[in-house]
Amino acid sequence: MFPETAISLDALRALQLERLRSAVHHAYDNQAPYRAKCVAAGVHPEDLRRLEDLRRFPFTAKADLRDAYPFGMFAIPREKCVRIHASSGTTGRPTVVGYSARDIDLWADLMARSLYAGGARPGDIIHNAYGYGLFTGGLGAHYGAERLGCTVVPMSGGFGERQVQLIREFGARVVLMTPSYMLAIADEFERQGIDPRDTAMRVGIFGAEPWTEGMRAEIERRLGIDAVDIYGLSEVMGPGVACEFIESKDGPTIWEDHFYPEIVDPETGDPMPDGEPGELVFTSLTKEAMPVIRYRTRDLTRLLPGTVTTMRRMAKITGRSDDMMIVRGVNLFPSQVEEQILRDPVLTGHYVIELSRSGALDDLLVRVEARMVLEGEAAQRSQAGLVQRLKGMCGLSATVEVAVPGAVERSMGKARRVIDRR
Ligand code: DLL
Repeated sequence: MFPETAISLDALRALQLERLRSAVHHAYDNQAPYRAKCVAAGVHPEDLRRLEDLRRFPFTAKADLRDAYPFGMFAIPREKCVRIHASSGTTGRPTVVGYSARDIDLWADLMARSLYAGGARPGDIIHNAYGYGLFTGGLGAHYGAERLGCTVVPMSGGFGERQVQLIREFGARVVLMTPSYMLAIADEFERQGIDPRDTAMRVGIFGAEPWTEGMRAEIERRLGIDAVDIYGLSEVMGPGVACEFIESKDGPTIWEDHFYPEIVDPETGDPMPDGEPGELVFTSLTKEAMPVIRYRTRDLTRLLPGTVTTMRRMAKITGRSDDMMIVRGVNLFPSQVEEQILRDPVLTGHYVIELSRSGALDDLLVRVEARMVLEGEAAQRSQAGLVQRLKGMCGLSATVEVAVPGAVERSMGKARRVIDRR
């Protein structure tokens, strides 16, 4: 159905080089802030003769987009932009992204390709609970599902009760939302006494936040569906930069014909070989309104060889470099805590990590919901077990609170996993 993905490795590399040269030219000619960086670094688009030459070019960082707020990174006149999205920006100004009509068209194509890889088929009813609005999740998925030939239910986030009602009554075969929100919906199914297996729902395509294999197993078990990982970020396009194939579930395949990936050392920026962990960097090969050259995603992962296609995969994101907690000198990601939590079948993926300081020492508190109200001894067993596994994993002594179902705040989109009170 998507013949572009059946490309040989040689043809792919040749296509990438051709597109990369034109992308770098486009940025240099039309994006003043990037041109200034190139001039300062003493490189010119003509220096790009092989794919490896890309590493001589400067990075684009989130700060560059912020500095150019709102439209300074647009490489086409603003009047030619048909849409704008913006990332939430937890601190300071949001990052603004512009799209030409051709960009929107390409995004729909790549999102359709992603949904197809993830198991959606033309004619399916797709329940889209990614948030609509400035966030790229809702509209990005929406246009892709239409492009694939599906019937979209543009639900957006919120309204837990109605989510369940409409999934059932409209007969969605595919659902789209963040993995943490899917767990909240699983609770809602339970609350209403409905077995999700009695609905038409078979596939969930989840992303927008880090999630572990343990979380995948929990979602699949509780809802009786295939849970597939989709990746993307607004600065590079939105959802659909990479997506897992339902038949392999071995990490999102990066649509390398449009996005050129690199892994770099997050500290030094030095390129790392495939297979090594580091920070994911993307260069858009075909974007018109806002090309990005060597954009530092801050997402930590590895590049893996292609399996279903020749295009490379990315391993599940372990976290963002900004999400890394430093607790008593130990580096720790929420996903590592999640992995340990979900080793215990009694515990759930509803959890929050609180950091505080008493005297000179950091305190690490993990509050996690149990599946059911536990009797004293059972709660104690789960609690002590998690304390021990966390200690074994990172050497830290954590305080663990096993909470009753419903005690941890639910998110409708990206879950907030860490509360840092230090
Ligand atoms: O979250 C786009 C998206 C929407 C992707 C819906 C997938 C599904 P932003 O709001 O710009 O865009 O946030 C991008 O979210 O840099 C990652 O840190 C994180 N992220 C996105 N997908 C995944 C994933 C959208 N599958 C940031 N696994 C990215 C882990 C993810 N983290």
